[in-house]
Amino acid sequence: MDSDKTYIIQISCGLGLTPFLEGELMDLGYSIHLKHETGVEIKGTLQDVMQLNLYLRTAYNVMLLIKSFRCRSPQQLYEEVFDYAWEQLVDRNGYISIVSRVDTPSINNTMFANLKVKDAIVDRILEKTGSRPDSGKERKGLLFHLYWKGDKAWLYLNTSGRKLSDRGYRKMPHSAPMRESLAAAVLLATKYDGSVPLLNPMCGSGTLAIEAALIAIRKAPGLLRSSYAFLEMKNCKKDFWQSLRTKALNDSRCYTKTHKPRPIWATDHDPKAIQAAKKNAQTAGVDQWIEFQVCDFSETPIQDDPGIVIMNPEYGQRLGQIRALEETYGRIGDFFKRRCCGWTGYIFTGNLDLAKKVGLRTRRRIPFFNAEIECRLLEYELYAGTRKTGPAGE
Ligand SMILES: C[S@@+](CC[C@H](N)C(=O)[O-])C[C@H]1O[C@@H](n2cnc3c(N)ncnc32)[C@H](O)[C@@H]1O
Repeated sequence: MDSDKTYIIQISCGLGLTPFLEGELMDLGYSIHLKHETGVEIKGTLQDVMQLNLYLRTAYNVMLLIKSFRCRSPQQLYEEVFDYAWEQLVDRNGYISIVSRVDTPSINNTMFANLKVKDAIVDRILEKTGSRPDSGKERKGLLFHLYWKGDKAWLYLNTSGRKLSDRGYRKMPHSAPMRESLAAAVLLATKYDGSVPLLNPMCGSGTLAIEAALIAIRKAPGLLRSSYAFLEMKNCKKDFWQSLRTKALNDSRCYTKTHKPRPIWATDHDPKAIQAAKKNAQTAGVDQWIEFQVCDFSETPIQDDPGIVIMNPEYGQRLGQIRALEETYGRIGDFFKRRCCGWTGYIFTGNLDLAKKVGLRTRRRIPFFNAEIECRLLEYELYAGTRKTGPAGE
């Protein structure tokens, strides 16, 4: 592939995270070409692809458009895919895998589409080089995505491989952990930047606190991972990638010399959660920036100068659980009102009936999705006279 050429790049994200992804891209200096519910399209070079994989906090995958074409039959699919210089992109001793999304009368089976694309790529490489790469379902080499809708098809190289939200630090999951990209987006929604203290009672496996620390020290999340699909590309400019990583690391080190992040506290009443959160923070290299404590949320130490307090209580699925949680949500309201005066409070929840039990007036209600569950990030301005709402809450 040509390292100076400009390509169309699709960046995918979780449902509802597009505005946060857009914000990150604009901060990095990119203009958005197109956007949709689960991603955006921009233009950029292979160097941009590396930069995006390194810096984006809210994205899933960075995908580069290899070709788009008219496609009316499996045979045409084979011919169009064959007609590309795969021998310049895929190592003949490498490994490829294909995933497809198909919505066309020409075919009713994505496995068959995968097979056609795989055959075309390996046949072409065999013809040009005399040997062929391996293929299969494992995401260990180069990963291609085919989208075939009606009579139009798009073939992308997924340059990330594993989702970027899978940062690799969550070695010890705890109950109902938030996906890392969602936690990052939630923090971006609060405008957290490390300049004010952050409290995260009910921290579970620590995702919000760890993502906050990464934001506070300006650490590129991609530094936490060493494997990316683009590194498997033939003639990948690994020196450039190494120089990008070194720069990102130095930038974060320099930043923390002059900007000490304000304290981050992560607490949970379950000692196993705190054990997991500590271990995960160590793996992410941010444990020195987070204070951990086992305690009921209401006993979380409060700093002198106010900042952000953010909580992600369980939403409950069974009736018995929901009854118990009604009391917990009510106690969160009391904790906010009595102990967090002057702070900005946030609750991330997928149960709006339970949220009413908090009994405080919300200032903002920001919609999110956690997997398929519609959620809200509720924002409360907590001043001395923060008003309790009536029984229905707000
Ligand atoms: C939904 S989980 C939080 C998940 C977290 N955001 C993550 O990404 O791992 C809720 C957490 O609240 C904790 N919790 C429940 N009731 C609590 C209480 N009264 N005081 C402190 N922690 C509590 C649970 O132990 C659990 O770890």
